[in-house]
Amino acid sequence: MIDKEMEEAINKQINEEMYSAYLYLSMSAYFERIGLKGFANWMYVQHKEEMDHAMKFYRYLIERGGSVRLYAIAEPPHEWDSPLHAFEETLKHEKHITECINNLVDLAERKKDRATFNLLQWYVDEQVEEEANDEEIIQMLIIVGDKGNGLFMIDRELAKRTYTPLAQEE
Ligand code: FEO
Repeated sequence: MIDKEMEEAINKQINEEMYSAYLYLSMSAYFERIGLKGFANWMYVQHKEEMDHAMKFYRYLIERGGSVRLYAIAEPPHEWDSPLHAFEETLKHEKHITECINNLVDLAERKKDRATFNLLQWYVDEQVEEEANDEEIIQMLIIVGDKGNGLFMIDRELAKRTYTPLAQEE
């Protein structure tokens, strides 16, 4: 049976991951609206990955005999100044998520909860990848520019991203 404080913290993280999914779905709709289908695809895939992150915690809580609480998901923004602005906000959000995961690791250590500590290592690695992906796209947008031909080149690149369900990765 999982510790109650740990359970509460994981339930809050399920909400953070679901909010992330919501935020990226909203960004996907924004990119559709401004005619950048590749960017929209990238964000849609990200939305699905965030739901996987939420569901991995959800399954884990059930496995540990915990109780899942699905808190209300806040409304995300729906408008950004430019593609660069949207990705800067994405990176800012992912840094916040990294901090949440690090706090969970600290709690698992304090509680001597080895199973949760082990689970969290997957999220620690995932956050490194997520921040690196966002930084790479931000760099592309800065170098190539977020207007005209450069933007369409990046759009074509981001159209290639495909979704791999988590279960198939492991
Ligand atoms: Fe699930 Fe993007 O952190």
